[in-house]
Amino acid sequence: MVAFRNTWFAVNILLLCLKWDTLHVICIDLGSVQIAHPVANPNGMCATFVWSKGYDCAEFIVPTKDGFLLSMQRMSRPRFRHAHKEPVFLYHGIFQGGEGWLLDEPKESLAFILADSGYDVWIGSTRTTNFTYGHITYNRKQKEFWDWSCDELVSYDLPAMLYFVNNMTRQPIYYVGYSQGAMVGFAAFTQKEIAGLVKKAAMLSPVAYLNKIPSPLIRAAAFFLVDQVDLLLLHMYEFNPSSPEVDQLSKRICGNAGSGCGDLSTLVTGPTCCINKSRTAYYNKYRQSTATKNLAQLAQLLRSGKFGKYDYGFFGNLAKYWSISPPSYDLSAIPKRLPFFLAHGGKDRVADAEDVRHVAAKLPGEVKVLFKPKYDHEDFLHGTSSWVEVYPYLLEFFHGRK
Ligand SMILES: *[C@@H]1O[C@H](CO)[C@@H](O)[C@H](O)[C@H]1NC(C)=O
Ligand SMILES: *[C@@H]1O[C@H](CO)[C@@H](O)[C@H](O)[C@H]1NC(C)=O
Ligand SMILES: *[C@@H]1O[C@H](CO)[C@@H](O)[C@H](O)[C@H]1NC(C)=O
Repeated sequence: MVAFRNTWFAVNILLLCLKWDTLHVICIDLGSVQIAHPVANPNGMCATFVWSKGYDCAEFIVPTKDGFLLSMQRMSRPRFRHAHKEPVFLYHGIFQGGEGWLLDEPKESLAFILADSGYDVWIGSTRTTNFTYGHITYNRKQKEFWDWSCDELVSYDLPAMLYFVNNMTRQPIYYVGYSQGAMVGFAAFTQKEIAGLVKKAAMLSPVAYLNKIPSPLIRAAAFFLVDQVDLLLLHMYEFNPSSPEVDQLSKRICGNAGSGCGDLSTLVTGPTCCINKSRTAYYNKYRQSTATKNLAQLAQLLRSGKFGKYDYGFFGNLAKYWSISPPSYDLSAIPKRLPFFLAHGGKDRVADAEDVRHVAAKLPGEVKVLFKPKYDHEDFLHGTSSWVEVYPYLLEFFHGRK
């Protein structure tokens, strides 16, 4: 096994080093960048959001096998410093990074609440988000930097982060996924080795099947525009929701949807019940880019009604998967011993109630469902009542004796 891994490593380095343009970066810096390690960052998430609230917090750089340098934070309550703590891993949704868990008051934010309950809280962030450390070869301006979809998060980012937490704690991990963070979890847990690291999984506004999605804007986007036909041909590899190009594009989509753009986020995610409107500008400040390819995959899933890998077209699929259509993520492969908690809302236009029931029915093990008829997608993350109406049930699910 060790020999195999060393060979694998050597072959990869050989391949990377063969690319002349990356020669100086990789072949020189190799030793230092390839290993997960702590880092002092005065502009990191700990310094920006956590220390001032009186919590312990440490920053880490975690490399993926395809060269991204992810940012992770580990936080806990000082009074539990010497206590036995169990690790919880939090994975955010699309258009945000791990800081999404830290934007509200400690009393209301799940990350702080878990720390207050004595957990060892680990916050993960997807490859291209603002607080991460880039790529060993590519920069944000290059199309390769944005050449990823949910599949890469499933095969590279999530495994790198969960193995790191496991390595640091040597304990089974409690998983919390919000929106796409749930989707990546479902897909990754179909691999035995990854599921083996996790003890229980709580999914908020979980996304997997997308065929019932009622958001008029998303439907229009999926059917007319967001697919590779349009954006990737326009060379828009990075999809920045705050850019003028995307603003233009959404106006076109809104035209197709037959409804003026009005309040964009309501059209996309549904009418919120519980977001504090005076904080919207602050949340928007931390809204950020995703890969256009990531969105294109969501559009494909919406059209196909399946929960599967990226569709590269007839020849692309043959080359990549040895099959003319992309393989599905088989939820029945998730181990039966892994229990789930699914919290979803009746006004959510992304994680539609019927799609969530579809996931619940496919999961092999025990599934607890919390349905909030008045909640939309974001209410489960930023809603001012979640700390009373949702998170206590999540904690109970984690603590429960079963
Ligand atoms: C696991 O931890 C050890 C030391 O604690 C470190 O040397 C090793 O590189 C780590 N491996 C991973 C995959 O993080
Ligand atoms: C809404 O947010 C503002 C700014 O953070 C805060 O002052 C106010 O107390 C909040 N209101 C509620 C009902 O949470
Ligand atoms: C995040 O990064 C994007 C583009 O890289 C930038 O436009 C935006 O201002 C950044 N946001 C924050 C809060 O740093």
